[in-house]
Amino acid sequence: MARAIICRSWPRRILAPRSTLHCHNECGHHARHNNVIAQPQDEHGAEPPSDAIVIFGVTGDLARRKIFPALYAMVSKGTLQVPVIGVASSKLTVTQLHERVADSLNHAGTARDPAVVERLLSLLTYVSGNYNDPATFSTIKAALAGTRRPVHYLAIPQSAFETVITSLGAAGLAENARVIVEKPFGRDLASARELNRIAQSHFPERSIFRIDHYLGKEAIMNLLYFRFANSFLEPIWNRNFVASVQIILAENFGVAGRGAFYETAGALRDVVQNHLFQIVALLAMEPPPRRGYGAVHGEKAGVFQAMRPLVPEDLVRGQYAGYRNEPDVAPDSDVETFCALRLFIDSWRWAGVPWYLRAGKGLAQTTAEVLVQLKPPPQALFADSAPADGRANHFRFRLAPTSSIALAARVKRGGKGFVGDQRELYLCEDGVGDELPYERLLGDAMVGDGALFSDQQAVEAAWAVVEPVLVNHSPAVGYEQGTWGPHEADALTAGDGGWHQPAPEKDCP
Ligand SMILES: NC(=O)c1ccc[n+]([C@@H]2O[C@H](COP(=O)([O-])OP(=O)(O)OC[C@H]3O[C@@H](n4cnc5c(N)ncnc54)[C@H](OP(=O)(O)O)[C@@H]3O)[C@@H](O)[C@H]2O)c1
Repeated sequence: MARAIICRSWPRRILAPRSTLHCHNECGHHARHNNVIAQPQDEHGAEPPSDAIVIFGVTGDLARRKIFPALYAMVSKGTLQVPVIGVASSKLTVTQLHERVADSLNHAGTARDPAVVERLLSLLTYVSGNYNDPATFSTIKAALAGTRRPVHYLAIPQSAFETVITSLGAAGLAENARVIVEKPFGRDLASARELNRIAQSHFPERSIFRIDHYLGKEAIMNLLYFRFANSFLEPIWNRNFVASVQIILAENFGVAGRGAFYETAGALRDVVQNHLFQIVALLAMEPPPRRGYGAVHGEKAGVFQAMRPLVPEDLVRGQYAGYRNEPDVAPDSDVETFCALRLFIDSWRWAGVPWYLRAGKGLAQTTAEVLVQLKPPPQALFADSAPADGRANHFRFRLAPTSSIALAARVKRGGKGFVGDQRELYLCEDGVGDELPYERLLGDAMVGDGALFSDQQAVEAAWAVVEPVLVNHSPAVGYEQGTWGPHEADALTAGDGGWHQPAPEKDCP
């Protein structure tokens, strides 16, 4: 398909909470805007920033790959100057932990400045102890002496969340503190409710940060911005003009050594109930009636509440060939590494519009993309008004690995005949935001800004949608790695022109 290409700069920060945001206008001049949506003080009054970070799970995979680079970036920009206390059960000395951190930063290629690494290490101490042992929390308390408002980051297996939160409360470590809880938040509706109950019995809701790092990505934030910073979308952004919506979140690798975790999760719990549903919510929500992130949370929760609970016929589960041979995976595992589903949002705006979601590992590409398929014109004035493949105009949002937005429209070919081609008007981000999602989210949590986190209502409403198919579902069907998943999934979209398979993305021109 031919493309008309226009390149624009996007605003680098869409929900900058702390001061102002920078963006470029069309002439390339810098403009400064007051931030409009995310002002925590809109709703809760300005709150003092956290004066220490406690990282539970400091020896884990997430800390190594994502949290240390985020801390490095924060130190490098001067936004992290408070003590960092790592906690885990491994018997390490502080020096050994420092070596691990330095190694992982080197490995990630982020530690470009040795002075910054030194500054980070000078802030970092270590508490070795088991979460099941109250003495661990006494030691943490001693390590926090002199601080008054710590943030506790639970980068630990989900099975340990409740123990750690309860122990924080019992040790008096929840007072004036914040807590960041990693995803997935719960395993089902009942466990999410119980976890919420326990968390809220020790921390006020505004101090609980349910993290989904997807919400810290620039391209995801831009969905919200693009929808509500422009007026031209609103008249067509509904059931009258939208035929269907497809969202894919694909990885071209397998479980990468995390088989033990994946066996407890599967694609539905790992990425659909959180990442994909968050994308749906941003695309489907009503305009927030006022500024302030509570209004955004309310509208997103409204989308989850309007979603029709899934039934087994809406879901196809797949498992890539070779998954059962991965370390820590059961030889007869039925855990899905792929799922495709059909979703309906029973609201005035979206009634009858199917939303088709896919997520999987071992697929043809690593990519995330949204296709909003528009309806064809009501009358076929030209022979090719209704394209042969059944597809009319669309919006396409590439969310990863690059960020772009494309609008496909039909344009007449030169000559006497009234025939044309579908061409894309293409906007691509010409500079990647320099803030890592974990850096952004950790920084936001430290100043009490919950705009990019999920609230209790949304988390529970999202679990309620998937609850009916968590246990009651068809067995996972096999698929070859490097494909787009099992053929059985094709039946879901057969009546709507089939699946849209993302093309390899070109670099921004
Ligand atoms: N890894 C990712 O890419 C990723 C992405 C998104 C979300 N998450 C979420 O982040 C969380 C952590 O994931 P992960 O992959 O980092 O897990 P992990 O590699 O298994 O690390 C778990 C950490 O928790 C510590 N730990 C576990 N049980 C403990 C206990 N009883 N007492 C003291 N320490 C204990 C471990 O310490 P020792 O090893 O020293 O015992 C280790 O530091 C999970 O909730 C996961 O769902 C992970």
